[in-house]
Amino acid sequence: MKTKTVALIAVMIAIIIALGFIPGIPLGFIPVPIILQNMGIMLAGALLGSKRGFLCVFIFLLLVALGMPVLSGGSGNIASFMGPTAGYLLAYPFAAFLVGLVTEKFNQANVFLEFLLIWLAGALFVDVMGAIGLTIQSHIPLHQALMANLVFIPGDTIKVLIVTLIHRRFKNSSFLQA
Ligand code: BTN
Repeated sequence: MKTKTVALIAVMIAIIIALGFIPGIPLGFIPVPIILQNMGIMLAGALLGSKRGFLCVFIFLLLVALGMPVLSGGSGNIASFMGPTAGYLLAYPFAAFLVGLVTEKFNQANVFLEFLLIWLAGALFVDVMGAIGLTIQSHIPLHQALMANLVFIPGDTIKVLIVTLIHRRFKNSSFLQA
């Protein structure tokens, strides 16, 4: 693997961790907070592409599994993958991959299409997988878990907008090319 790829992945992991420093907003009716860190997951896919984005987020989750407190609010250990947010966490690398895939395949798309594709791949996908995880882990009926996840849509939509604009600003930068 090229030194540049390693450096880009390392920087992106640092950005994801830094976004986790901003504490989440707990919600009383669902054991999942509103966080900023998932914006870093989408950004990894959009800026690094599908394969490097997947690898980046996979390594980030390895750090979590090793017990490093890199998740939002300073949590992180192997038990995180069995808790109420497991569905979201396990979806993260695939979301980065999908965001990378759509931004690679629709490189010339207009801003609205690009926004929609990133929203589907990076926000809706994670929220649905998270709801499925909640159903399995916390025995909340799926329709109820899906309804509860609607609370994340406004914030996640703003994050997708920011990711779309950052991607459009940097997508032709030779610095990000493999
Ligand atoms: C964790 O740090 O344990 C994962 C938290 C997952 C929170 C999810 S990510 C998608 C959705 N949007 C949010 O702001 N929060 C949830």
